[in-house]
Amino acid sequence: MLVSSISKASSLLLLALLGASSVTTNADVKLRSWDEAQDLAKELVGQMSLEQKVNITTGMGFNITPCVGNTYAITNPDFPSLCLQDGPLGVRSSYNVSAGVAGINAAASFDRKAILQRGEMMGQEFRGKGAHIQLGPAMNFMRTAESGRGWESFGEDPFLQGVAAAETITGVQSQGVISTAKHFINNEQETNRHEESSNVDDRTLHEIYLWPFARSVEAGVGSVMCSYNKVNGTSACENDMMNRILKDELDFKGFIQTDWWAAMSTVQSAVNGLDMVMPGNMNTTDDHSPSYYGANLVNAVKNGKVDESRVNDMALRIVAAYYKMGQDNDFPKTTIDSFHVDPKGSVDVEGDHKTLVREMGAASVVLLTNQDNILPLKETDKSISVIGSDAFNDPLLFDPENCSNFMCDPATLIQGWGSGVVSHPSYIVPPIEGIKSRVGNDVKIQSTNDNYDMEKVKQIAEASDIAIVFANSDSGEGSTPVNGTKGDRSTLTLWNNGDKLVQSVADANKNTIVVVHSVGAILMPWANHENIKAIVWPGLPGAESGNSLADVLFGDVNPSGRLPYTIAKELGDYVTTPSADLEIDYTEKLNIGYRWFDSKKIDPLFAFGHGLSYTKFDYGELKVKARKDQVNAEIQVQNTGDVDGAEVVQLYLSFPESAEEPPKVLRGFEKVFIKAGGHHKESVKFELTKTELSIWDVTTQSWVIPSGQFEIHVGASSRDIRQFATFTL
Ligand SMILES: *[C@@H]1O[C@H](CO)[C@@H](O)[C@H](O)[C@H]1NC(C)=O
Ligand SMILES: *[C@@H]1O[C@H](CO)[C@@H](O)[C@H](O)[C@H]1NC(C)=O
Ligand SMILES: *[C@@H]1O[C@H](CO)[C@@H](O)[C@H](O)[C@H]1NC(C)=O
Ligand SMILES: *[C@@H]1O[C@H](CO)[C@@H](O)[C@H](O)[C@H]1NC(C)=O
Ligand SMILES: *[C@@H]1O[C@H](CO)[C@@H](O)[C@H](O)[C@H]1NC(C)=O
Ligand SMILES: *[C@@H]1O[C@H](CO)[C@@H](O)[C@H](O)[C@H]1NC(C)=O
Repeated sequence: MLVSSISKASSLLLLALLGASSVTTNADVKLRSWDEAQDLAKELVGQMSLEQKVNITTGMGFNITPCVGNTYAITNPDFPSLCLQDGPLGVRSSYNVSAGVAGINAAASFDRKAILQRGEMMGQEFRGKGAHIQLGPAMNFMRTAESGRGWESFGEDPFLQGVAAAETITGVQSQGVISTAKHFINNEQETNRHEESSNVDDRTLHEIYLWPFARSVEAGVGSVMCSYNKVNGTSACENDMMNRILKDELDFKGFIQTDWWAAMSTVQSAVNGLDMVMPGNMNTTDDHSPSYYGANLVNAVKNGKVDESRVNDMALRIVAAYYKMGQDNDFPKTTIDSFHVDPKGSVDVEGDHKTLVREMGAASVVLLTNQDNILPLKETDKSISVIGSDAFNDPLLFDPENCSNFMCDPATLIQGWGSGVVSHPSYIVPPIEGIKSRVGNDVKIQSTNDNYDMEKVKQIAEASDIAIVFANSDSGEGSTPVNGTKGDRSTLTLWNNGDKLVQSVADANKNTIVVVHSVGAILMPWANHENIKAIVWPGLPGAESGNSLADVLFGDVNPSGRLPYTIAKELGDYVTTPSADLEIDYTEKLNIGYRWFDSKKIDPLFAFGHGLSYTKFDYGELKVKARKDQVNAEIQVQNTGDVDGAEVVQLYLSFPESAEEPPKVLRGFEKVFIKAGGHHKESVKFELTKTELSIWDVTTQSWVIPSGQFEIHVGASSRDIRQFATFTL
């Protein structure tokens, strides 16, 4: 279910309920199984010379290719130059593309079908531009709340990341585009990302950080990208873990590519499983410099340092991924020109995607508080003040000189910054426009985008029945600071004087609604201000921002987003912060995110999985049936309020004490739409298999179901458990 709607729903939203806005699958795409693809690949690679095989593993260099990365084409036999393009939320460095919700919002929807549709939409757009390989989805963890690129991924929980990664990949690849699961592995911060070593024990690696990659492999992902950082002292891209875990243990059949310039060697990389070097050149300041692969790899084979069978395997994996996605069959010509982004001749791939972008934006709004049911806004609310620069557009946002890759925060925030953005959205609907077009002439709107003149702010806040104040917090990739913040956030405080702005508005108007656009958790010193009646959390909603928000504020859409991370009361409550050390020991082990708060008995401000609705849901009796390695749970959920809505029913598992797991871990969720009136009960079913019931046993190097008494907790958030049952295995 994509969105839920209340009775007043517009036709747009009724369509959404029926899934009518799903993107149409490209009829030309003929996907193959890995077996079929490998047979075709063997035949083609069998005809290639050593140089040809090496060339298809090697990028052509940077700044000189159509896409952010391209492999060499070969002739006789023929294999095209593959186009690799950023990023995880849509097509970067090109015009006439959609800017949808960020990965973190896809997660916040807790909606499998919506995440799948988002994947289909992105797959269509990459395909339409002739991009063979999407550099996404990202599945690194919000191990720290500050983590600069956390917003590109799906939050702090492995199960949620795994579901979101698999649905995204299935959607993208259904359009014949190869997905890239990234960044493998333990690239959880931007600080010193090229130098630090993430030191992670085997069990934690498997149960947390590897989990979404395992689900990606099961979903048939064509490529995995190794990361910049070291793991246990060895660069991720030349670490034998790539063979041992990805290829042997998970049986990954696609190819491993580097992050841009993450290769450090020829022989060590080749023997440890690296299949493709990107963007190809080794010297970042010399676009045509030689590659660790290319001629160096040919020589390494000739000198006997790398067995030719390894090069055969590299080529086979790349060609098999190409055949698996049916790219031999009418794949569109590449029309991206990343390094001279030019709207002239740009192929328009947006189609009707704005409908889905709007729905996803609304479906991922998290309603954190709603005192006195101030929301949805009522017909009696005759005047509204809209306050803060985050409610507006600014020409700077569209200025490729001053705001390249969104490295600026002068206005409304729809995504973070760096390579993970849609750098040239056609438009952005800011909140002020979304609100104005929703209310028409019926409501008087007063507004200011001034975050500093508190006299003016006070005057405007006082002048209306309702005051809506907007603020944001941004982060992104790399080490170039944006307004003093390098990739990782240095503070969880709102940007652009946000706290003072919120405080001033709340002091002036007893019906204050706070709207936060943010890459992740922030500190909210004003959260308990008596005049703040609602806190609305649209996160990073994409280009339809204002429309999605208005849909929720005015009740056309009943909010159903849930937090994919924990919001703490204080900075010190979080398990850790980005470290400047070059050796980063993941000493918290399994206790990241809400698991840490549970194990230390710290109350969060807003718990993982939290989010309110305009209606109420009752949970009936929980029934559990347990067999050897399968547990079925079923619960009836009822909508007892006045409006239709969707509930995200969450299942947390507690393992037997002997397993030494965190107090409880998410192992299931379902978003269900339920009509109002109390008569409608939805039966929500969960099936836990060996995957969900096991822990990683370091001694036997296998997944094992511990024996003893388990507990199942079903509820509306990690801290709002409604029903409880036990079973013994
Ligand atoms: C491989 O690529 C290089 C460019 O680096 C080119 O000079 C060479 O001709 C290519 N070899 C084959 C066999 O395609
Ligand atoms: C493509 O984008 C360019 C630049 O924004 C714009 O001028 C042009 O009208 C767009 N083309 C279409 C078909 O929308
Ligand atoms: C890293 O080292 C720890 C401790 O020696 C070990 O348990 C773990 O398996 C290593 N991780 C990898 C990815 O090799
Ligand atoms: C990289 O290329 C630059 C020229 O752009 C050159 O000055 C520098 O010495 C090169 N670095 C290495 C390690 O070769
Ligand atoms: C953008 O940058 C140019 C050159 O650096 C500068 O002259 C111009 O004022 C900037 N525009 C804005 C809107 O800041
Ligand atoms: C930095 O922040 C100030 C206000 O806090 C804002 O006016 C300015 O546009 C920001 N600069 C960038 C590059 O985002």
